[in-house]
Amino acid sequence: MNKINVFLMALCAFVLVACNKTEETHAAKVDATQVSTPEVANAAKTEDNNTAIARVCSDPKMPELAKKHNCTVCHELEKNCVGPSWQSVASKYKGADKYTFIDKTNGNREYSLHEGLIKKVSKGGSDVWGTMPMPANDPAGKKQSEIKELVDYILALAK
Ligand code: HEC
Repeated sequence: MNKINVFLMALCAFVLVACNKTEETHAAKVDATQVSTPEVANAAKTEDNNTAIARVCSDPKMPELAKKHNCTVCHELEKNCVGPSWQSVASKYKGADKYTFIDKTNGNREYSLHEGLIKKVSKGGSDVWGTMPMPANDPAGKKQSEIKELVDYILALAK
């Protein structure tokens, strides 16, 4: 193998690593200027991202478990924030017993409603409420019982 090939391989490896890194940080970061709710998007023009989001999503009535898992950064009970209000989530799935988890890499899959929403909250994803993605809240699957409890809580909000 000549020197040029070695150099090219090293360059490829570097580019791959660099790209993967950007994707990782991208997945975890929320760009508040891209959020559909006008309150957050406007606030983000003058404040930094996290301040804008935190200022707009701050519902003291959210349950302790939601605070513990930082759902409160993006969700409120009655008002759309970065993500949809949990009341609207409950209304959307009222009476449904199936949920299609959108997976752009491995293909969509149908689950029972509870199982599917647990999967969505755990792995994250977009395109149900808008293009804004929810980041993975339990990528390693270590908090499944608490995520399940939160999904039960949300669905029980249906009137
Ligand atoms: C960084 C912001 C953010 C955080 C943190 C967050 N969410 Fe979300 N959530 C979103 C967005 C954005 C959507 C809409 C996703 C879509 O359109 O598919 C969403 C959607 C949802 C939905 C509806 C899913 C669907 O497909 O209809 C549920 C349920 C939910 N979130 C629960 C939670 C719970 C529980 C937590 C905490 C463990 C949490 N979220 C943390 C932003 C967030």
